[in-house]
Amino acid sequence: MVVKEKELVQLYEPTYTIKGIEAEIELDAFALSDLELIGIGGFSPLTGFLNEEDYHAVVESMRLVNGEPWSIPITLPVDQQTAEALKHHTKAKLVYKGDVYGVITIETIYQPDKKREAKHVYRTEDTEHPGVAKLFSRPSVYVGGDIVLIKRLEREQFGSYYLDPAETRKQFAEKGWKTVVGFQTRNPVHRAHEYIQKAALETVDGLFLNPLVGETKAGDIPADVRMESYEVLLANYYPEERVHLSVFPAAMRYAGPREAIFHALVRKNYGCTHFIVGRDHAGVGNYYGTYDAQEIFKEFQPDELGIKPLFFEHSFFCKACGNMASSKTCPHEPTQHVILSGTKVREMLANGELPPAEFSRKEVVEILIRGQQEAGA
Ligand code: ADX
Repeated sequence: MVVKEKELVQLYEPTYTIKGIEAEIELDAFALSDLELIGIGGFSPLTGFLNEEDYHAVVESMRLVNGEPWSIPITLPVDQQTAEALKHHTKAKLVYKGDVYGVITIETIYQPDKKREAKHVYRTEDTEHPGVAKLFSRPSVYVGGDIVLIKRLEREQFGSYYLDPAETRKQFAEKGWKTVVGFQTRNPVHRAHEYIQKAALETVDGLFLNPLVGETKAGDIPADVRMESYEVLLANYYPEERVHLSVFPAAMRYAGPREAIFHALVRKNYGCTHFIVGRDHAGVGNYYGTYDAQEIFKEFQPDELGIKPLFFEHSFFCKACGNMASSKTCPHEPTQHVILSGTKVREMLANGELPPAEFSRKEVVEILIRGQQEAGA
């Protein structure tokens, strides 16, 4: 089934009246971020939190009941007591820290099998996995139904970097970009990131650098430090007129392959025609194979996702080549390759050691060290 590019779902209605709606559901930060992304069309074609049928379809087959691709269950978990007070086909206010951010029209109230969800979505039930741990830590009943977004989060941090999908689409059109490659990241921009971004940019009109700034696991570099690293790099090493930087306010799931599909679908909504998937995209620890997040795209017909993935091999600086390279382009021994894991880099920074310039540009290293010092202060 071919799904043509569609209009964005737009469910933001600030004047929506909540008078007479008694029921209330308390959101966690994760659900609040999902609510907003549904409301602004980031999660098009979703129009609400998944109802029971769509939930099962997504968990098992990466599709909604109507056949459209969707790989991550977007759910609204509530505790047993809250669930008992809710009624089908009525509305409930969606509340965060005392403020009403939206309204849901309750279609289904259901008990998920979280082990099954974990196995299908995360490919593991291991609660050491941060995404699985999060899944099990949230309440045990799911509420499904269409939403209205009533209030937007007021954000001081990264203010001008928050653009809705409708706005990024408009900006890309104004720039005259016909093809735009999206780049998801939850890390500072290292040389390998820069290499694959620029390699992709050689073949398209624009690069959409879209760092995720929602909830991440403990140990990941904080979003403000990462944003500073993108800014300094863009100012010094990227052509201004070919790059657009704005943030992705979603929570990180660490679901590897499934999340790669999700990230691609969402970036299509933001206006991208292409999407970069490199090594172990959205992975964590050793739960996924290096290229599992690329392999999974084979499970869809090329045109049904509506966005073209651009796959990249594991990239590194090769001392013998004197260049960035990958196993596809470099004939030398691994001893010539400068490869550091995120964990290793964090360890080095914590010990006051500088990651080599072949791994990360000095401007970025300076910001990371300052971030580390401020975190320790
Ligand atoms: S992610 O969790 O958001 O995927 P990260 O910010 O590290 O993590 O990666 C952003 C993108 O760059 C992903 O598509 C990832 O696969 C890719 N990537 C990261 N490091 C490399 C590398 N050394 N070689 C090739 N691709 C990479």
